[in-house]
Amino acid sequence: MAKESRVAYGVKILNSRHKDIQSLKRAGNIAEMHGNKFWNSSFLIMDYLKKHPLKKKVRILEIGCGWGLLGIYCAKQFDARVTGVDIDKNVLAYMDLHAKINKVDVVTSQCSFEQLTTKNLQVFDIIVGADICYWDEMTKLLLNLIARAKKAGVKQIIIADPCRQPFTDLAELCKKKYKNVSVEEKFLKRPVPASGEILILS
Ligand SMILES: C[S@@+](CC[C@H](N)C(=O)[O-])C[C@H]1O[C@@H](n2cnc3c(N)ncnc32)[C@H](O)[C@@H]1O
Repeated sequence: MAKESRVAYGVKILNSRHKDIQSLKRAGNIAEMHGNKFWNSSFLIMDYLKKHPLKKKVRILEIGCGWGLLGIYCAKQFDARVTGVDIDKNVLAYMDLHAKINKVDVVTSQCSFEQLTTKNLQVFDIIVGADICYWDEMTKLLLNLIARAKKAGVKQIIIADPCRQPFTDLAELCKKKYKNVSVEEKFLKRPVPASGEILILS
């Protein structure tokens, strides 16, 4: 029988055929903007953070969290205080479910990139996001969010993508606008073949 879950980077991830995922779907939690599954760019950041561990109890905001496995990884590995936000309220139950099965506490909230104000962002040390820059209009939304985060004193922003054009544009604009910007290429063979780039602003 096909497996209903897997463990990667110490995090348990349910497949869409798992009974708890199925019951969330039946209860009406149908993702509206691609947050219908766990996306692989989160693995790129998990791999990066494995090699560049975070301080314990750091305050993390995962934007466009979807199922929120990246934030949950940070909560598990670094005892991070994690908040996951997404424009789509229907995905938040999947992050809550994964937090529960991974035995960590996280906060979830429906909030778009554009709704996150400088004041909201002041309470976070790090912002992470994976597979969140795939439509042209997202470049500007994220560039503006990064500006507010910088103003708010957020120390690090880490965004990964399989290099779709809106993400590449975002990385180029950040390199022009800010000093401490790096873009790291990543190729993973395991747990799944995945490749892309990680934009890191610090
Ligand atoms: C491709 S999914 C990636 C989900 C998750 N980060 C992952 O790696 O599994 C993109 C997510 O971004 C969310 N999203 C799209 N536009 C957004 C916006 N303007 N503000 C906040 N979230 C947004 C979607 O609802 C979706 O959950």
